[in-house]
Amino acid sequence: MAKGGEHYVIRPGRTSDAPELAALHASVQLQWVTGGKPHPGIAAWVEDLLTGHPSVVPDDFLVAVDLATGRPVASLVGLRQDWSLAGVRLPVAQVELVATAPEHRGRRLTERLFASLHERYAASGVPIQVIEGIPYFYRRFGYDYALASGGAPAVPAAALPATGQARPDDSAGALTVRPATVADADALAGIDRRADGEALVCPRDAAVWRYEITGRREASLARRIVAVVVRGAEIRGYLVHGARLSAAGELTVFAAACDQPADWPQAAAVMHAHLARVGRGYEASQGRPFVAVCPLLDHGHPLARLGTSGVPRRPRGWYVRTGDPVDLLARLVPLLRARWQAAGLRWHEPTLTVDLYGRAARLTFTDGELTAVTPSRGTVGPTTDPHVHAAVPPGALLQLALGNRTLPEVLDAWPDCVLRDRLTEHFLSVAFRRVPVRVWPRN
Ligand SMILES: CC(C)(COP(=O)(O)OP(=O)(O)OC[C@H]1O[C@@H](n2cnc3c(N)ncnc32)[C@H](O)[C@@H]1OP(=O)(O)O)[C@@H](O)C(=O)NCCC(=O)NCCS
Repeated sequence: MAKGGEHYVIRPGRTSDAPELAALHASVQLQWVTGGKPHPGIAAWVEDLLTGHPSVVPDDFLVAVDLATGRPVASLVGLRQDWSLAGVRLPVAQVELVATAPEHRGRRLTERLFASLHERYAASGVPIQVIEGIPYFYRRFGYDYALASGGAPAVPAAALPATGQARPDDSAGALTVRPATVADADALAGIDRRADGEALVCPRDAAVWRYEITGRREASLARRIVAVVVRGAEIRGYLVHGARLSAAGELTVFAAACDQPADWPQAAAVMHAHLARVGRGYEASQGRPFVAVCPLLDHGHPLARLGTSGVPRRPRGWYVRTGDPVDLLARLVPLLRARWQAAGLRWHEPTLTVDLYGRAARLTFTDGELTAVTPSRGTVGPTTDPHVHAAVPPGALLQLALGNRTLPEVLDAWPDCVLRDRLTEHFLSVAFRRVPVRVWPRN
């Protein structure tokens, strides 16, 4: 809301903002790609988000309006989605399209937009916000790198199977790859529902799959191509890749999945053959050399391990923020309980207190099994308070909770992560293990 003497007001987005927000973002985002011209892919994406997206509403945008002109001059959007962390539902908001018109920069509009966004998620119970983008910048707003992104080797085009060898094998039982149609959406949603429990994933329902296959504007930067892996008429997996080659001639792979892990050795081969065909087709239509397939997948992903080998790549990082680490832990109760059960561990006291330097999480146990995580007041830590089992900086807890760092890594890097005894250390090591990131976010 506008306060006395202020030049701007922050308000939720509206459908009627679509033309102005599309123009604003198209004129400031990815300008190094367009050489300073409006980016048509950004404009189309913004219009898609503001008009008929299956999981985004105009209200998900926040807009700074210049009170002198009544026009939007800065905005961002939080794309709400449910991720699944080793089978536990985790509401996430992915922040995208952060922009301020050049003549309004340096007036803390981005800072104010983030503050409004965080208030909104504190009120509506979205424990995690994530964003990619400008290195270091989002640390200003309480974000830290707490999830890896990518890391699978790039496969040079020359290492891919020759197109002639990539013909579908019609022999009985062979897997083949074909473009997806909207009729495949239910089967694709079924694969996501049954996905392997140990990774961090972003499952899609049938409506969202239909949108990915045919719903986006042709020019949208966020448009991807979905292919299905089939055995006869049966859909066994999927492959999602870019709709064009990047400026560097790379074909990005965003997701790849198989319903049956046993299919992977054959599926990885047919997926790479398919990518070779697609990349060479794009080379011909775009008139730009096809250089490599770049999977935006973790290095342990089956497509990276079992397909054509490639050139190692350093993973990128997602910035992550949580406004409420105790709430985050509370959501993980079923997962923590299952991990302790699987390891045959029972906690020997009624509670385990993790001090977060300011507040604390009290883990309650019944007959040795975790039943609840509730907030309590923080004290001083295990060195001075015998009732506290661990003191963990909130940033370190975020790393542990999301499976980005193990407890030994946290103990190594955070001297202010302090544990009362070896038993606590063993319990927490079992609770928090590294989790592969297999997220193709919804945008
Ligand atoms: C990045 C951007 C949104 C910042 O908007 P803003 O409203 O001016 O931001 P604020 O006024 O809240 O903060 C300004 C501070 O951010 C810093 N900053 C701005 N752009 C930055 C960048 N690209 N990298 C690092 N710091 C940056 C400014 O130097 C300033 O720092 P100071 O406070 O030490 O002087 C704006 O520059 C923009 O629209 N850029 C083009 C689009 C873009 O890159 N979006 C982000 C995509 S991930």
